[in-house]
Amino acid sequence: MAALLDGLPATERKRFQVIDDHFSVGMIRSDPPDHTRLRKLINKAFVPRVVAESRSQIESLVDQLLEPWSDPLEVDLVKDFAYPLPATAICQMLGVPPEDRNLVHEWTLGINAVIVGTLPLREAAAKMQKALLELQEYFRNMIADRRQALRNDLMSLLVTAKDELEQLSESELLSTAENLFSAGHETTTSLIANGVVTLLKHPEQWQRLCENPGAPDLPMAIEEILRYESPVQRQTRVVRHNCNLAGQQRGHHFFYSL
Ligand code: HEM
Repeated sequence: MAALLDGLPATERKRFQVIDDHFSVGMIRSDPPDHTRLRKLINKAFVPRVVAESRSQIESLVDQLLEPWSDPLEVDLVKDFAYPLPATAICQMLGVPPEDRNLVHEWTLGINAVIVGTLPLREAAAKMQKALLELQEYFRNMIADRRQALRNDLMSLLVTAKDELEQLSESELLSTAENLFSAGHETTTSLIANGVVTLLKHPEQWQRLCENPGAPDLPMAIEEILRYESPVQRQTRVVRHNCNLAGQQRGHHFFYSL
């Protein structure tokens, strides 16, 4: 993020300190040993027992979302299913009440403005910083609330790691909460939507799944859709030292898309 924002003139660059601070910590953006410590914490929320409990919650959420669908079927797949399903699921995990779901979603869209890259850099950075400040304020209120009374949610786990176990700093807490929220829903929305479009383009595969709706066909189909129409089509990496990459000499700040 810092390397992207370095595209701004130095005087303006200073205005976006909040972005620098946010993006220099947190699980997805760190290397070991910080990454190992943060990842170990979050893993607690994804042990098989907890995942099994979420499965039944997510299944009943699917039933609720499908309930109003009538025949002949006319729905907006993203609006009516692919977005609310993972967004509600991650809200439930983190402890964000359903009525605030769209609010937090708008902030995460704003936070992605620089990464998406459709706006001029200056405008995108301003949008990102505004959304980031608002989301942080929202999460700070949630954290204060959990300090009064812990609940059975991911935010309480993060607050305990910060206050009782001293394994997390305040900024890591905020960054990790934001990361989980955005990582936890946009990708799955795209997976569902890309998956349906792909199956519509390949009706014989659709038919095969309808005839064999369980394992092994369904899990294999999901894996294949992830590969064939991936929700994340590239990953950037910063080369931290001069090195020879694919026969070319590369230095600091070269972005490599996988
Ligand atoms: C189809 C769904 C998903 C796709 C395609 C996807 C994709 C990815 C990718 C490509 C990365 C690696 C980023 C990197 O290497 O820099 C990643 C990391 C991550 N994702 Fe997902 N993701 C999905 C669903 C989820 C969900 C549902 C959650 C949370 C509930 C989540 C949370 C995370 C976290 C926390 C990381 C960072 C892991 C780490 O640094 O150790 N993702 N995801």
